[in-house]
Amino acid sequence: MNIPVIMPPGVAFQNGHFTAENIINKTTHSGDLVGVFHDEAAWLALPANTPIYQVEMLQSAQGEGELFVGTTHLNPGRVGDEFYMTRGHFHQRREQGEVYIGLRGTGLLLLQDEQGKARLEQVSTGSVHIIPGATAHRLINTGSEVLSTLAVWPTIAGHDYAALAQGFALRVVLQDDKIQAKEVQNG
Ligand code: F6R
Ligand code: ZN
Repeated sequence: MNIPVIMPPGVAFQNGHFTAENIINKTTHSGDLVGVFHDEAAWLALPANTPIYQVEMLQSAQGEGELFVGTTHLNPGRVGDEFYMTRGHFHQRREQGEVYIGLRGTGLLLLQDEQGKARLEQVSTGSVHIIPGATAHRLINTGSEVLSTLAVWPTIAGHDYAALAQGFALRVVLQDDKIQAKEVQNG
């Protein structure tokens, strides 16, 4: 009997680009990130169509038990003294976790629990990040090349951006030529 072998989609580990048909692509521009960066004047000075990050996703079945697979490509750069970062979110379904794997570039994964306690994990090629449920997450590119990560998360997780309208409790900035994490009041 001739059993057909399915060719699955692929991901290039060196840059995080998928090889598959019908990849979903979304670019987030500076103008989309209202209120995200603390230096409003520096943010306004940046053209609103400046691309900050791009997400690629494979098509997935929807529903309980199904998984999304995606890569995020976060450009290097700063708004004022603050490094480029993703908007960041809790999952709508708080109990749902996620895995991030570093592919290229260097940066930080900012994690924050529902009590507002934040921590940072170093992201680099091959780093594995287990994001527990009820933990908000944001990528920050502290390097000089694109930061790309691979992520796997339940399709039912959803995104809750509103819960972080006040922002995260930590900001990562370049001060005195050093990468520094600063605690934010009312973060
Ligand atoms: C999915 C996930 C990532 C992010 C992506 C962009 O749950 O965590 O795919 O969605 O890194 O970040 P946000 O969604 O915060 O703009
Ligand atoms: Zn997520």
